[in-house]
Amino acid sequence: MEGGLDRDRVKLHVKKLPGQQARKWTRFHMKHTAVSTLEEGFVWARDKPALGPWCTDVDGNIILDFVSHVASAPLGYNHPRIIDLMKQFHAADPDRYAGTDFIAGYSCKPEKCSVPTPAHLHKKIVDITKQFKFDTAFFSNSGAEAVENAIKICYDYRQTDGYAFCFQGAFHGRTLGALSLNRSKTVQKLHFPQIPDVVAFPFCSCVKKCVCGWKTQSKKNKIENVLHQSLDNATGIINSEDVAYIIIEPIQGEGGYNVPRLSFIKEVYKEAKKHGIPVISDEIQSGLGRTGKWWACEHFGVKPDVITSAKGLRVGATIAKRRMFPAEKGRISSTWAEGNALASAVGWMTIDIIQKEKLMRNATRVGNYFMKRLRELMRRSRKVVDVRGKGLMVAAEFDTKRTRDHVRFTCFKRGVLLNNVGYKSIRFLPPLNVTKREVDVCVDVLGKVLRGRDE
Ligand SMILES: Cc1ncc(COP(=O)(O)O)c(C=O)c1O
Repeated sequence: MEGGLDRDRVKLHVKKLPGQQARKWTRFHMKHTAVSTLEEGFVWARDKPALGPWCTDVDGNIILDFVSHVASAPLGYNHPRIIDLMKQFHAADPDRYAGTDFIAGYSCKPEKCSVPTPAHLHKKIVDITKQFKFDTAFFSNSGAEAVENAIKICYDYRQTDGYAFCFQGAFHGRTLGALSLNRSKTVQKLHFPQIPDVVAFPFCSCVKKCVCGWKTQSKKNKIENVLHQSLDNATGIINSEDVAYIIIEPIQGEGGYNVPRLSFIKEVYKEAKKHGIPVISDEIQSGLGRTGKWWACEHFGVKPDVITSAKGLRVGATIAKRRMFPAEKGRISSTWAEGNALASAVGWMTIDIIQKEKLMRNATRVGNYFMKRLRELMRRSRKVVDVRGKGLMVAAEFDTKRTRDHVRFTCFKRGVLLNNVGYKSIRFLPPLNVTKREVDVCVDVLGKVLRGRDE
């Protein structure tokens, strides 16, 4: 029994949520914490049993966590190999967690080193992006920084500070450059300065005929996509040489777990290729195996020029072919660009576990089962209006925002932790090793909440 819990038997156990200790910890935490998106109510007890998606809160309630710290904990709690790594790391490197401007190693040969270093993580990332022939990564501290560096290298590569293309519903982070590319919520941008010349195109997830505005009648009296029309030599309004990059989430996260139409993604990449415009695939939420492939863009058979990753990787990573990066020293850098030593070790181990335990296969198999069960709920309840996703990046949309908020709150009261996404949807982000039994626990609670039953 790892982590003090038996995943085949453990059950939800709720006395009261939030309990007294949780209220105390919340007050203590919030007293000096700036208001951000931090959710109150659930307070995880770091010293109590936890394993996979199961954890114990500070009042002893046993919770099923289907948020995984918004995809930052893709193995859930206390994976035994991560715990072992922590012990080894502390033995080898008791008080020097930080990477710096300098390169650090151990006195053994790099290939013989038992503790993965940032250099090992660079190699591992190149391994899982070899389908795109990438050979270089630049590390930073967060997803937003990975995006900042991705757009910087593209401006430099294209030798232009001109246009940036993004998509309606997009989310790319909260630093000034990244937030300029957001099109999901006004609150993220209000009163903040933004980079100029960002143009947003519709993100087409139309199921039958395109009605979102991606395809319209062109000046040539043909039905053509608006990206094509904008860049058309004869009738367009933007000179393609002035476009630095196109940034796109292959499956939108914050915007509502929008799965695009295959032809739409193909058309975006086709236009980009035709004009030599680099495409940045923002895989910060959809990548690292969550959708059943290393990178969600692989489902569409397209090859981006740059990938951004973070969350479960524990560092921010901007990944591409070497020629995409500036050759001159100092064009991109950070005190932390070697890669935080502890974070990089966990990132390396996370990828290794996903590989060895075949967790992408599990994400596909259990993800399909999850969506099947949610669609059964949808057939029985008019309150659920859509179920969508890929692998273990799954969302259910409700008839109103009010229903969604009620469902999420009531699920929490019963011990199932979920997260909002988009305007009226809930996202499900269980760990990649989630089992069908755990999915059943979640869906059964959801079903009872929808039926308004208390048993
Ligand atoms: C697609 C996408 N890009 C960028 C980010 C920003 O990442 P971070 O919060 O680590 O800055 C996120 C975070 O949720 C994201 O989902």
